[in-house]
Amino acid sequence: MGKTLGYRSLQSTHKYSILAFIQELMTLYTAPRGTADILPEEQPYWRYVEQKAARICQLYGYERIDPPIFEDTRLFIKGTGETTDIVQKEMYTFEDRSGNSLTLKPEGTPSVCRAYLEHGYNNLPQPVKLYYISPIFRYERPQAGRYRQHYQFGCEALGEADASLDAEVIDLAWQFLKSLGLQKLLLFINSIGCPQCRPDYLKKLRAFYTGHVNELCPDCKIRLERNVLRLLDCKQPACQKIAAEAPKNIDYLCAPCTEHFQKLKDYLQILNIPCEVNNYLVRGFDYYTRTVFEIQPEDQRAQSAIGGGGRYDGLIETLGGKPTPGIGFGIGIERIILNLKKQGVAAPPLPSPQVFIAYVGDAAREEAIILAAQLRRGGIAVIEATSSKSLKAQLRQANNLKITRAVIIGDDEVKTATVILRDMATSEQSTVSMKELAALLR
Ligand code: HAM
Repeated sequence: MGKTLGYRSLQSTHKYSILAFIQELMTLYTAPRGTADILPEEQPYWRYVEQKAARICQLYGYERIDPPIFEDTRLFIKGTGETTDIVQKEMYTFEDRSGNSLTLKPEGTPSVCRAYLEHGYNNLPQPVKLYYISPIFRYERPQAGRYRQHYQFGCEALGEADASLDAEVIDLAWQFLKSLGLQKLLLFINSIGCPQCRPDYLKKLRAFYTGHVNELCPDCKIRLERNVLRLLDCKQPACQKIAAEAPKNIDYLCAPCTEHFQKLKDYLQILNIPCEVNNYLVRGFDYYTRTVFEIQPEDQRAQSAIGGGGRYDGLIETLGGKPTPGIGFGIGIERIILNLKKQGVAAPPLPSPQVFIAYVGDAAREEAIILAAQLRRGGIAVIEATSSKSLKAQLRQANNLKITRAVIIGDDEVKTATVILRDMATSEQSTVSMKELAALLR
C-alpha cells in the first residue's frame, strides 16, 4: 500500500535485513488504490452538494436515514442479486471475530429496505420516503470518476406502485442536479417489465443471443448463462452491434406494464422534464422491475452516469417482507463534483475565521488566550497566533489565512485594557477597549 522511496545504492552494500529495515522506515503510506482524501480545499463542494440534497429532500418530503456502513453479507447476495457484477466480484467481504460474514455497503437500496422492515415502517402511512448520503464500497478498476470508495446521495420511496411516484422520484433527481447549477444533462428512461411479462421476453432474448454466441465478448458469454438482460448494456462495440438487432423489452411488456410506462412518460411531460426512451438501458441490478432511468452528462459515454435508479417492486418481498413496491435512485457525489468543475460551477466558500489575534510578550499572550476564548464563546471565529513569532510574521500568517481583521496586543495594551484593531486590507489601525471589542467585531 505504500510508496517506497528509492534507496537502491544501499542494496549493494548492506545486508538485506538492514535494507528491509531502512525501506520500512522510508515507506510513505498512501490512500488505498481507488480511494481519495477529501481535503479541506474540496470541502466547499461537498458541503454545497450535501446541503442541496438535504434541501431538495425536504421539499419532496424525504427524511434522512443512516444505515450502518457494513451489513450481513446475505443482505446483498439476496437483495442486490447473486448474478450482479457487484455480488460476483466487487464486494468487500470479511469475517468478524465472531465468524459473521459482513460486507461494506456496495449500494444503499438493500440497507434501506432492511431498515424499513426491521423498524416496522410498513405500518406507517405509505409511501415511506427516505434518503441517505453514504460511502459505498466496490472493488472496481479505478479510473476517472470510478473509485473503490465513493459517496452516494440516494432516495428510496417505499409502499406505492403508481407511476406518478416514478415521475416524482425522477423529478427530484433532475431538479437536484439542476439546483446545483449543472447543465447539459440527458435523462434516459426505459421499462424492463415485471415477473409476469419478463420471462417470455427473456426466452426470446436468450434464443436471439444463442444464435450469436460466437460473436460475443467473453463477459457476455458468461452473462448469457447468468443474466441475459445484461447483454444489452455491454459496452464492447461488437456486442453493441448485436444488441441493436436484439428483441426489445418494450415490445413484450404486458398491458399493465405498458400502461405504467405510458403514464410515466405523460407525467414527465407534464413536469416538463426532457427525457429520451433508451430500450437498451437495463442497469446492473437483479431487483429492478418496470421503470429504470439514468442521468448522464451530454458529452460523456454511458459508463459515466451521474445517477441512476429504478423501480424494485419485488425487493422487499425477497428480503422477507410482504409484497411492497419501491422506487429510488443513487447519485455519485464525486461524479457531481467532477462535472461541476468541468462546467465551471464554483461552490460557495465555507465560512472562514473572521479575526486573528496577534500578541507581543508573555503578559499579552495570556491576555490573547483569554480574549480568544471570550470571542469564541460569543460566536466569533478566531485564529490565535500560537508561537512567539515576530509581530510581522504573525500578521503575515493572518494575511495567508485571508483574515480581514487582526487584533494586536502588546504590553501597553495589557496595561490599559485595550487592543489595536487592524484592518488587514487597508492597514488602518485603531485602539479599542477590550470590553467593546466583541460588540465592535460583531
Ligand atoms: P448505481 O448506478 O450502481 O445504482 O450507482 C448510482 C451512482 O453512483 C452512479 O450513477 C454513479 O454516479 C455512482 N457510482 C457508482 N459506482 C461508482 C464508483 N465506483 N465510483 C464513483 N461513483 C460511482 C445504485 O447503486 C442503486 N442502488 C441506485 C438505486 C437506488 N436504485 C434504486 N434505488
